[in-house]
Amino acid sequence: MRKDRKVIDGRILSFDTSPLNKDFDFLSLKVDKKRIFVADGIIESIESVNITKPEFEDIEVVDYGDHLISAGFVDAHVHYPQTAIIASWGKRLIDWLNIYTFPEEMRFKNLQYASEIADRYIEFSLSNGTTTMASYCTIHPESVDAFFESAATKNMCVVGGKTCMDRNAPDDLCDTVQSAYDDSKTLLQKWHKKGRAHYAITPRFSPTSTPDQLSALGSLWSEHPDCVMQTHLSEQTDEVDWVRKLFPNTRDYLDTYETFGLLGERGVYGHAIHLEAREIDRLSEVGASLIHCPTSNAFIGSGLFDMKTLSTRSVKIGLATDIGGGSSFSMLRTMACAYEVAQLRGFVLHPAQLMWLATQGSAKALHLDDQIGNIAPGLAADFVVLDLSSTPEISQRSVRANDIWEELFPTIMMGDDRAIVATYVSGKKI
Ligand code: GUN
Ligand code: ZN
Repeated sequence: MRKDRKVIDGRILSFDTSPLNKDFDFLSLKVDKKRIFVADGIIESIESVNITKPEFEDIEVVDYGDHLISAGFVDAHVHYPQTAIIASWGKRLIDWLNIYTFPEEMRFKNLQYASEIADRYIEFSLSNGTTTMASYCTIHPESVDAFFESAATKNMCVVGGKTCMDRNAPDDLCDTVQSAYDDSKTLLQKWHKKGRAHYAITPRFSPTSTPDQLSALGSLWSEHPDCVMQTHLSEQTDEVDWVRKLFPNTRDYLDTYETFGLLGERGVYGHAIHLEAREIDRLSEVGASLIHCPTSNAFIGSGLFDMKTLSTRSVKIGLATDIGGGSSFSMLRTMACAYEVAQLRGFVLHPAQLMWLATQGSAKALHLDDQIGNIAPGLAADFVVLDLSSTPEISQRSVRANDIWEELFPTIMMGDDRAIVATYVSGKKI
């Protein structure tokens, strides 16, 4: 059969190793004008712009000039059902959940409403250059179907799962030990690895699950070890105190997961701000993933993620908007906030490190880096094309740049969806 081919030119940003590695040589990073050959949604090769290939001869070259082509952004922790309650004023975590979040999540029993919000959320994300996301759904299986169906219409690589909770939430938003296990299993069997979908076993967080429910989900994970398990960890100090009261026999917050089989290399823990030394050691021992949600941590008043320490440990680190605790759908805005939060902790993140966190870092944290998160042969042709002079305010700064990083940084700090020239998913411009 004839292949669907594309040829795309632009300045290509890709990574061989993590720029967060100690001794990383920033001078080795080259962002040159190159040509990407794409066949059937997969990157075939990256060549210099004067290369032609016989099988691509009748294909028109799409030339993005000086625009920067990066792997599409990977948002490693979001709650798509919270799209419509983004920017809800004045509360900290537990009140914010009770007052804004839980009433909205109750609406996702209705498949039509769930589909409307899933489509809206995916449109907002794509227009901001995000091509993959790991989303919590609600307790309702309908919300999971809506999410995966919406992503499948665009052929997107996504991660999602039914959020499980059987206590400390309104009755209408609680499942049970058995239904959490059964529904999660059914949804996992229905969606995991169907096309580009990946199922994540998703206990919301320790306060909203009984020990029995955590244990049932731990069993499910042991039966499906190729899935990731996503949850929240040590986001606010009040929450950590509450967990201590709810689980008096565990060593710390992380131990509430480990005790019930919910700690592992494929464990993806959102926020991870108020960690004790033992927890950091244990997370490093198992090589778990921590997801930094800087706009959310600032917005809900949670705290400052310790990138300086954690990036030297053997945990994987991803970056995320955490919609709707987060205050922006844009991974550019999220990188800007990550930069500011690191500054507040006395650590300076390089623009290459920020871009890496928003692409390959998140892809590695979700165990999807064999498919997405970089521009390299064999990976999916999921790209974002960035205009580094998208507004007068940005271009008057970037025009003075001495190198690509100085040129890119104003877009990271001040850019929005006007900087997104194009988003490609599986080789198709969306
Ligand atoms: N912890 C438990 N649930 C949530 C949620 O929906 N958002 C955030 N930011 N933290 C949580
Ligand atoms: Zn969250």
